[in-house]
Amino acid sequence: MNPKIKIVLGDITNQHVDAIVNAANNSLLGGGGVDGAIHRAAGPKLLEECRTLGGCATGEAKITDGYNLPARYVIHTVGPIWHGGSRHEDELLASCYRRCFEIAAEQKLISIAFPSISTGVYGFPVERASRIALKEIFHALQNNSLIEQIVVVCFDQRTLDVYTGAEKEMR
Ligand code: AR6
Repeated sequence: MNPKIKIVLGDITNQHVDAIVNAANNSLLGGGGVDGAIHRAAGPKLLEECRTLGGCATGEAKITDGYNLPARYVIHTVGPIWHGGSRHEDELLASCYRRCFEIAAEQKLISIAFPSISTGVYGFPVERASRIALKEIFHALQNNSLIEQIVVVCFDQRTLDVYTGAEKEMR
């Protein structure tokens, strides 16, 4: 595996990286899943800052401070809701990763952790999502020499197995 990529089982709120990515919704005002966990761990100041952002379009991303998190920043992105694949879901998911990496480059971030965007409540099939995620991660590593570490944090064993398998195939 490219030593700059790590695929791990864990909780993204514990990651000691420059930025963790949040799989948010268009309001950016919190929710369940990884979004809820990040807001709980960061504390109420995160929601205060999010209220000033005016939401976020699907496929876009916005950065905030990390407050009580070990990570310095949170990059909030909004993945697509899976509708069967005919509503530009693939492109929108790829756009989430690309926009996160654009923000990472602007901020000169060196390490960044991603959850499996859209594959929880939003229902995107994990195998398909893992290929899109890894393609964008490989692409970012080719184009941004500042990045030293990208961590894909999987919350359950099946997601970990799928991402690990996809990474091996795509190498
Ligand atoms: N660390 C890492 N991954 C996690 C964590 C965690 N602490 N908690 C859950 N996951 P989801 P989505 C995994 O549903 O599908 C929210 O309500 C989870 O097991 O969090 O993009 C938002 O506000 C799954 O593999 O995000 C939106 O309304 C992955 O993170 C909506 O859910 C994504 O699951 C977004 O849905």
